[in-house]
Amino acid sequence: MIYDFESDAANIKNNLNCTRIGSVVMVLPEIDSTNNLVKKYLLNGAEEGLVVIAESQTKGRGRLGRTWYSPSKVGIYLSVLLKPQFAPDHSSIFTILAGVAAVLTINEFSHQRASLKWPNDIVISKQKVSGLLCELVQNRIEPNGLIIGIGINVNHLPEQFPENLKNSATSLRIVNGLSVDRLTIIQSFLMNLDREYQTYLTKGKQSMIEKWRLNTDLFGKKISIKRGSTIISGIAKRLNDAGQLVLSQENGSEEAFESGEITSRIY
Ligand code: BTN
Repeated sequence: MIYDFESDAANIKNNLNCTRIGSVVMVLPEIDSTNNLVKKYLLNGAEEGLVVIAESQTKGRGRLGRTWYSPSKVGIYLSVLLKPQFAPDHSSIFTILAGVAAVLTINEFSHQRASLKWPNDIVISKQKVSGLLCELVQNRIEPNGLIIGIGINVNHLPEQFPENLKNSATSLRIVNGLSVDRLTIIQSFLMNLDREYQTYLTKGKQSMIEKWRLNTDLFGKKISIKRGSTIISGIAKRLNDAGQLVLSQENGSEEAFESGEITSRIY
């Protein structure tokens, strides 16, 4: 099924039971990047809760300058605008929050358990099914804007992935052996994100850090982290209060890493 752009946007908006997310919902046939479009709207004064969904992206962006493979009809590419009041150095916690909403959503639809891989990949049996790109736009006059972009591989067949992704990526269809309705997943993600955002606002960041911990297999494992051109290995210990990953190195020292600066490999 391809999107029926206008009626899908109305359907999503009308069926969302959200406090903040979904103030405006747009579904577009093709765009360079949904994160880029939300950023443009933000700079023109868009309200919190704006959702932009695209059938395909021509320049889908991943973390660390990578591209996000965004073919039409099979994937979900969407971005949400939040305008939380928080100190910019606490933005890591929103990456944690978005990851929690994403893994809970994928587990509603996956026949095999999905888990979080630092910083914000969702993997099933070590293969990536979804990724998040959270971008903070700082603004002197208005509250900061936080753009949460998510890509989910939903109905891709193995042969639809390009060579460089064939061994590392999967889709819900490959895992389940059945296709899954993309609109239902979108609705679920938006409602989960809205609920986790409310939980964070009322209960604080510890509740998010705990949920992240419950949905990862990372802690206690040896991992290596690439920071710039340096590779640092150690045991993944926990997330600290700022939502950074704490790594224990061979010499016993501990170091915390921001989600924006690293790639990680689990052994
Ligand atoms: C990653 O795993 O590196 C993050 C991928 C994020 C992809 C999504 S698709 C919707 C939104 N728009 C983009 O350009 N990127 C994000």
